[in-house]
Amino acid sequence: MIKPRIIATGSYVPPKVLTNADLEKMVDTSDEWITSRSGIRERRIVERDVATSDLGTQAALSALEMAGLSAGDLDFIITGTNSPDMFFPCTSCFIQSKIGAKKAAGFDILAGCTSFIHTLSLADKFIREDPQRKVMALGAEIMSKVTDWKDRGTCVLFGDGAGAVLLTGEEGDRGVLSTHLHSDGSLWELLYMPGGGSANPSSHETVDKNMHCIKMAGNQLFKVAVRALAEVSQETLEFNGLKSSDIDYMIPHQANTRIIEAAAKMINFPMEKVYLNIERFGNTSSATIPIALDEMNRSGMLKPGNLILLCSFGTGVTWGGALIRW
Ligand code: UT7
Repeated sequence: MIKPRIIATGSYVPPKVLTNADLEKMVDTSDEWITSRSGIRERRIVERDVATSDLGTQAALSALEMAGLSAGDLDFIITGTNSPDMFFPCTSCFIQSKIGAKKAAGFDILAGCTSFIHTLSLADKFIREDPQRKVMALGAEIMSKVTDWKDRGTCVLFGDGAGAVLLTGEEGDRGVLSTHLHSDGSLWELLYMPGGGSANPSSHETVDKNMHCIKMAGNQLFKVAVRALAEVSQETLEFNGLKSSDIDYMIPHQANTRIIEAAAKMINFPMEKVYLNIERFGNTSSATIPIALDEMNRSGMLKPGNLILLCSFGTGVTWGGALIRW
């Protein structure tokens, strides 16, 4: 049986570190508050002249290098991003051009922090259609450029970075076993950026009213997030006829350690098997899961046959899960 398998991973975070101590000088907050309420100690932030596709390009190149393939081998580039280079064209087309993936078809997914699960789901389907295909699935974000640096309720949470996975069809039982996608658009006001789109096109007024940054009802989103992560994890397990104890690692979207702990508790999943890097990178939106996968892969944690449960939630509200046999 041929399955879409992740044959390589890559990631990139910018070198500049913004610590909680730095944030103490910018807004009325404290290292103690940020660490205890979110689990974040520091995050990476790009310089002004860096765009999301620059981060995605580095992540994609490092995945290609690991696979021993060239950009010309790629059939698709799919980038999950909520912070694209421009409204159009898509960030995947910029990445395509920067890496020279001439025959690839590039397009983006905008589904909040869940977007990487969507890109994985599409990669899975493209490869099931033609197992020869090589698909680069990315999550890439520059959240620091849509952050309101005066709003202590959001500016302490986010960071910049990109992760990539390269998939192709392979004989055997390793690969993407299932993906599960959901949304509830009635909850859109929990997390959104009002300015710049057709509802509120960019104008002096939208700038004056600070409408080009993240607006978030953090406390309400927290509760939705816990339930969404727990439910989609349970759904993914049940679909595959598995129990929590069958899973080797969970890689949840890294938005808040307390959200992850509460969701894991709801499904009786031990925190020792949950991968966390939120302390170092904060919430890089759709990039959190592929960055984590790349870290785990490069450190040698992942062994052939390991069962890995991915789960995420984000603006929309969207949520999704996936199961991978490594
Ligand atoms: O990818 C998805 C993105 N978003 C999320 O996942 C966010 C989900 N929500 C959360 O992670 C949490 O709700 C937060 C970390 C955002 C906030 O934690 P919380 O425990 O829900 O705090 P809260 O919003 O209920 O605020 C508690 C207090 C408030 O003060 P008062 O009203 O009790 O006096 C806030 O004003 O903490 C205050 N506060 C802060 N204090 C110091 C809010 N932000 C800060 C801050 N530093 N940075």
